[in-house]
Amino acid sequence: MFLEDDKIFMARALKLAVRGRGHVSPNPLVGCVLVKNGSIIGEGYHENFGGSHAEITAFRNSSKDPKDSTAYITLEPCCVAGKTPPCTKALMERGVREVYIAMLDPNPLVNGRGAGELKRAGIIVHTGILQEEAEDQNKAFSKWITTGRPWVSAKVAQSANGYMGIDSQTSIWLTGEASKKHVHQLRTQVDAIMVGRNTALVDNPKLTVRKAVGRNPKRIVTDTHCTLPLTLHLFQDGEAETIILCSEQKFKQNQTAFYKYIPIKEENGYLSPEHILQVLGEEGITSLLIEGGYELLSSFKRADMIDEVYVYTTPETLENAELKNPIQISSYWEIRKEQALGSDHLIVAEKRKVECLQEL
Ligand SMILES: NC(=O)c1ccc[n+]([C@@H]2O[C@H](COP(=O)([O-])OP(=O)(O)OC[C@H]3O[C@@H](n4cnc5c(N)ncnc54)[C@H](OP(=O)(O)O)[C@@H]3O)[C@@H](O)[C@H]2O)c1
Repeated sequence: MFLEDDKIFMARALKLAVRGRGHVSPNPLVGCVLVKNGSIIGEGYHENFGGSHAEITAFRNSSKDPKDSTAYITLEPCCVAGKTPPCTKALMERGVREVYIAMLDPNPLVNGRGAGELKRAGIIVHTGILQEEAEDQNKAFSKWITTGRPWVSAKVAQSANGYMGIDSQTSIWLTGEASKKHVHQLRTQVDAIMVGRNTALVDNPKLTVRKAVGRNPKRIVTDTHCTLPLTLHLFQDGEAETIILCSEQKFKQNQTAFYKYIPIKEENGYLSPEHILQVLGEEGITSLLIEGGYELLSSFKRADMIDEVYVYTTPETLENAELKNPIQISSYWEIRKEQALGSDHLIVAEKRKVECLQEL
């Protein structure tokens, strides 16, 4: 349906879009390539939140007049003025002749309207080229804009016999250096990381990016009764903002430059996973990485609120351990990627989409 050249130009736009990861949230990733007479004349991507949109940057970088050019854009151009004027208007004003769009904007304010506006202006519009790749790239944004909740990834390190730790009071390191680097890289791609109270206390993690290049995400800890000592790295190092989720009954109107409390409804003695995601979505967090421990992962798994898992398995077994990894790869998950990381093995899997096979 699409020519190989069109796919090559869109693939380039998708590659550019990724450069915005970690900088544009809660906006989507967008890349744009302008082509005239078979050659690229301009490129751009959405670089940071509130900054120019990909199309505008591509026009600015253009080496030739974009009149009669073809634009390859990974996400439908916006037709509403937000922090910047609508991109549909810019495409019309610059005389772009044809537009290829990988995916429509899931934002209900735009969805289909941007493409419609271009068509009404006489621009030839094609949609759906490399759509799957574009949707995968913006899955966090799509979930957040349509449900108000972040995309939830869970990271678990487990021994060869499936244990993620000895017990709640013991801190042990399971994985090797390559896995650690991989996790730090993963951190650069999410808006926030969350851990349970026991993990914060026992491991005293920093949850910052140190073994990869990128900015630190927000750090979140579930501390129902506000009993964690404020001497922990999370509250002291000032390396990233920390959010303490606590029971509505224990809420303290207390905020410093580095941490703040947010009240959450209680459910069965825990902070409600559903309310946690709703509140984090309202905070503009589109992607959340849960880094343990056992209880926190278990409660989110029970509530069916984990979209994607990263399971790092080491070659060593752990004897006399109590904390069995609650997220075992089963038919519930669709494996997206497997790779060796030093002597460890990583599986990345997504929650399988339920398809109704029943005939109507
Ligand atoms: N292998 C790995 O990947 C990995 C990763 C991280 C940690 N760990 C290990 O895991 C162990 C700690 O895990 P853990 O299971 O004892 O504790 P955890 O999951 O870190 O923390 C659980 C605590 O968080 C609070 N909480 C509030 N809302 C919650 C909710 N919705 N769901 C679950 N907990 C909620 C509760 O304490 P309050 O009621 O006091 O608020 C709960 O007891 C340590 O040994 C650590 O080293 C392993």
